[in-house]
This record gives sequence, structure tokens and C-alpha cells, in this order.
Amino acid sequence: MTFLSEITAIQNIIYIFSSILFITGIKMLGKEDTAVKGNFFSALAMFVAVSITLIDVVNPIVLLSGIALGAVIGSFIALKVKMTSIPEMVALFNGFGGLATFLIAWSEFNSVPENLFQHILVMTTLYIGGVTFTGSLVAYAKLSEKIKIAKTSIITKIFTTIFYISLPFLLYSIFVTPFMVTSFDFFTVLLILTLLGGIGFVLPIGGGDMPVVISLLNSFSGIAAAFAGLLLLNNVLIVAGSLVGASGLILTVIMAKAMNRSISNILFVGYASSSASSSSSEEQGEVSPISVSDAYLILESASSVLIIPGYGMAVAQAQHVVRELGELLEDNGTEVKYGIHPVAGRMPGHMNVLLAEANVPYDVLAEPDDVNPTMDAVDVAVVIGANDVVNPSATEEPGSPIYGMPIIEVHNAKTVFVLKRSMSSGFAGVQNPLFFKQNTRMLFGDAKESIGGLVSEFKD
Ligand code: TAP
Repeated sequence: MTFLSEITAIQNIIYIFSSILFITGIKMLGKEDTAVKGNFFSALAMFVAVSITLIDVVNPIVLLSGIALGAVIGSFIALKVKMTSIPEMVALFNGFGGLATFLIAWSEFNSVPENLFQHILVMTTLYIGGVTFTGSLVAYAKLSEKIKIAKTSIITKIFTTIFYISLPFLLYSIFVTPFMVTSFDFFTVLLILTLLGGIGFVLPIGGGDMPVVISLLNSFSGIAAAFAGLLLLNNVLIVAGSLVGASGLILTVIMAKAMNRSISNILFVGYASSSASSSSSEEQGEVSPISVSDAYLILESASSVLIIPGYGMAVAQAQHVVRELGELLEDNGTEVKYGIHPVAGRMPGHMNVLLAEANVPYDVLAEPDDVNPTMDAVDVAVVIGANDVVNPSATEEPGSPIYGMPIIEVHNAKTVFVLKRSMSSGFAGVQNPLFFKQNTRMLFGDAKESIGGLVSEFKD
């Protein structure tokens, strides 16, 4: 065995160890009490994999400087980012992953491909990496509201057309002219179309659908990394890329299912074009407002309370006062539970993260399937800045854009308090018949202020 093949063998053994560490870490992320350790294990796996790659690198100084720079910038961004801005940060990081694979494929293009398989790999890695890069930048800009370009605007249409042109161009470069695309002009056009096409892929998608798109782009960046691993014959890159690709895709499907929408509806249609029945957007009668002091009197005598947080709780940053209210209710002898809808808020696990930040115990959080069957035994359902996820149109109104979406059926509780600032609709843009039901009381105002008021009443 030569010295070089011995090093390769050691590298491969350590890559297998890193891969096992990755999988263990990801598995541990599934439970709250092991999640922090799981995150650490996955980061350690990445550190070990990158370190062992350095052994046979010709100029490790350049690589080490890159790693050090990346670590400093990454740590700085991660420490500074607010909880609500994590989807934006993930979008940016996906984009950099896409850029890295785009550049790898570009450099591999310069060495003449040995066979058709390698040629297909180079072109698809280049395409997926490029689309992921620019698409993720647009997703970041949309989510952080740095750009607001309408789906129907001419700019969107131009970029979308470029995206559709880029697809046959890619297929042509792969299948019609394999090995002949080394022509510089053809390749340059493909590079430009790929980068502009990524913009056109994401630009027409609504800002609220960005979390789903980011998850899909995350999956793309993993697939591109796995392809790059095949190109570079790097086992750990293949494993890590496949893990990211598969988990991103699973998450995308889960989110789409929880919204009762197909991925193609999210990518190519959007809520606005759904067949909204007119009754969905019109107000449906009188609402009954309630004051903080009256709401307190009802809560004070309730023996069971279900709290349903939504996007508005995140906007108001009300999670800490919500936890305080929950504790005061429990001290008063009330059974308190939290109903958590999988797509409440704007990112996967949004409510779980906020409530965990406020130290709400995990065992009082329940899923729709757990709370719906016993909803009629709940004295008061307190809906805090949630709207679509408690909209009965989803179960009662065929033709509603959200018909079929699983909801938390608070309308079956004895009394419902809805905390929001106005009668405006939620993310799906449809009116909510819950607000007009006999057993519903609207507590208008910012959620943090309303809950703060209830907390003060309990303390007085
Ligand atoms: P939404 O339906 O978006 O409703 C949020 C409500 O919060 C609004 O009606 C708003 O009413 C209220 N609100 C906003 N700021 C508030 C504040 N400071 N105080 C009190 N209320 C406030 O939220 P949801 O029920 O959580 O549903 C989530 C929606 O997002 C679903 O349609 C889901 O499909 C979609 N979505 C979710 C995800 C993920 S992964 N979670 C991803 C993409 C899309 P006012 O303006 O009147 O206050």
C-alpha cells in the first residue's frame, strides 16, 4: 500500500465516522431534551470531516484561512440574528451552499469530461447550484422585505421567461450536444441563463410562501452538494448532501400538506389565484368584542383553557407574557394546554421555538389531533394572533381557498377569545367565520398588551 492510498483509506474511515455522527445528530434534533446535543454532534461531524480533508491538500494555508474566515462570519451572523429572522439567515446560507457547488461544477467543466455521466453531473450541479444561489438571494430579499416586486410586474415576467428558457437550454447542453458544449460562448450563455433563471424561479412566489421555498432551496443545495461529492469522489460530501437534500424535501412536503396545498400550487399558482368564494372575503355578521376585565372574569372561573398561538404572537413578541398568564391560570387551578398547529406562524416549529424560549414546558404543547376530539370540554380557547389555523371554513366551506387544511377546531370550545388588532384577514387572505360565531368574543389590541392586561388583572 502506498503512502497516498493509506491516507485515502484513513480519510474514508473518518468520513464514515462523520457520517454516523451526522445521522445521530439529526436524529437527536427530533426531541427537545436532546436537540442541543444533536446540534453539537452535527457541527462536530462537519468539523471532523473538513479537518480530515485537509490532510492531502496541497496548500492547506489557503483552506485554513477560508475556514477561519467562514467560522468568524458564520458565528457573528448566528449570534446576532433574531429568532424571527432565522428563515432569512437559512436562505442566505443555502445560497452560499449553492454558490459553492456552482463554482465546483464550473471548475470541473474546465477539465474535459471522461464520460457522459460525468458530463451530466457537471451540467446539473452547475444548474442546481446556480439556481439555488440566486433563488436563495431573492428569497432572502423577499422575506426581509428588501424587495417588493409584484407577481404580475413586467420585471417578474422577464425573469420568469428566462427561467423557462434556461430549462430546455440545460437539456440541450446535456443531451443534444454532450461533449460539444465546451464552446465558450455556449457555456457563458448557460451560466448567465442559470443565474438569471434562479431569480425567475423565486420572484413570482408570494413572500408568505417563502419558508416553503427556502426549505425546497435547502433541499436543492443538498442535492447539488451530493452531486459535487460525486464529481470530486468525496464520500462525506455525498452523504451530507443527500441528508440535506432528503430532509429539505421531506420538510417541504410536510409544510405543503399542513397547508393542504401541493408544491406545484405553492410554486406556480399561489393563494391569490385560488378559487376564493366571495363569502370567504366578506364579513359575515356582527362580532362581539370583549374588554380585558370581562375576559379576566371568564378566565378566572374557567377550569380548562386551551391557548392557540399564531403568527400574531410572534409579531407582538408576546410569548413571555403568555407563559406568565399560563402559570397564573394554573395557580388558579385551571388546566392549561397549548394547541400548536404545524404551520402556525411563518416557519416550521415557529411556535415551539418561541414558547421554548419563554420556558413553556414541552409536555403542555399538543397537536391538533390531540386537542380536537376533546374540544367541546374546553371552557375557554384563547386564540393569540392566530387566524388561518383556526378558520372553520377549512372544514365547513368547500370552495374556500383553505378548504381541506387541517385546523385547530376552537369553534367547538364553550367560549373562544380571539386576540388580534383588527378584522383583517390572515396569511391566506380569507375572512374567518369564527369571529362571527355566537361563542366567540373579540379582544382587540396588540396581543402583548392584551395578555399583559390579563396578567395584571390576575395579579391585582
Ligand atoms: P395568520 O393566518 O397569518 O394570522 C395572523 C393574525 O395575527 C392576523 O390575522 C393578524 O390580525 C394577527 N396579528 C398580527 N400582529 C398582531 C399583533 N401584534 N397582536 C395581535 N394580533 C396580531 O397566522 P396563523 O394562524 O399563524 O397561520 C399561519 C399562516 O401562514 C397559514 O396560512 C399558513 O399556511 C401560512 N404559512 C405558514 C408557514 C409555516 S411553515 N409556519 C409557511 C408559509 C405559510 P391583525 O392584523 O388584525 O392583528
